[in-house]
Amino acid sequence: MNLKDKTALITGAGQGIGKACAEVFAQRGARLILLDKNRRTVSHVARELESQGADVTFRVIDLTHTQPLLKVIDELLAAFRIDILVNNAGFDRPGVTAKIDKSDYNAVLSIHLGVPFLLSKLLLPRMRANKWGRIINVSSIYGLMGAKGEVAYAAAKAGVLGLTKTLAREGGRDGVTINAVVPGMIRTPPIMRMPEKYRDPIIAESMLGRIGEPEEVARAVAFLASDDASYITGTDIKVSGGWGI
Ligand SMILES: NC(=O)c1ccc[n+]([C@@H]2O[C@H](COP(=O)([O-])OP(=O)(O)OC[C@H]3O[C@@H](n4cnc5c(N)ncnc54)[C@H](O)[C@@H]3O)[C@@H](O)[C@H]2O)c1
Repeated sequence: MNLKDKTALITGAGQGIGKACAEVFAQRGARLILLDKNRRTVSHVARELESQGADVTFRVIDLTHTQPLLKVIDELLAAFRIDILVNNAGFDRPGVTAKIDKSDYNAVLSIHLGVPFLLSKLLLPRMRANKWGRIINVSSIYGLMGAKGEVAYAAAKAGVLGLTKTLAREGGRDGVTINAVVPGMIRTPPIMRMPEKYRDPIIAESMLGRIGEPEEVARAVAFLASDDASYITGTDIKVSGGWGI
């Protein structure tokens, strides 16, 4: 599962699953481009990984702002051949259908579905021209099951699976694979801020009976990014401890 000589762009790399992806990819020899809106966290991750010998570039950007994103990607494409894209960045605006504001609904769709679409639109043609590429999208068990009070998030994460399959059809003949990971409940800052009364029943329902670690998702992402996964495309790996299957 070597990622040596590969350049990976990871969104939302400042903390949680994105940070774990950066760490695992660095261990496997990838050159890293980290994007996040939080300067403090993403610069800290970059410094840590650099001190361990990794080659890291980072940019501070709100990915939902299209014009600045286009500019950053243009600059990055002029400097790097980007082989791997990990669409991970996300946030949630909970709400049931009858109460959620349209603007909150759109904001959630924009980060989880709009940004992966735009980055894929920009990077997939280059990957196809290079005859090698990997896109890994981070979905969610809620995208499979639906979730009361999470209408925007569940709709967006279901959409991520449709996007994944469509991109896979577009990129396959040119050696580009596109897959998703579908995490269950993972120990990241937003999850640890949730009251236990919401977290515990989900953990209890999982087959493994415990919360997942960000590294456990990151290892599945790294596998899909590697040549070991060369004949896997248009599908997903559930990293949920058996919850929601
Ligand atoms: N933690 C879980 O249990 C879980 C389960 C299923 C799916 N997921 C998905 O995994 C991904 C990562 O989740 P996490 O739990 O690690 O979240 P997190 O909040 O710990 O990390 C998300 C990162 O994305 C960044 N980000 C958010 N909005 C951004 C924007 N507009 N522009 C740039 N950066 C932005 C944040 O600054 C943060 O560093 C998300 O797509 C999430 O929906 C998480």
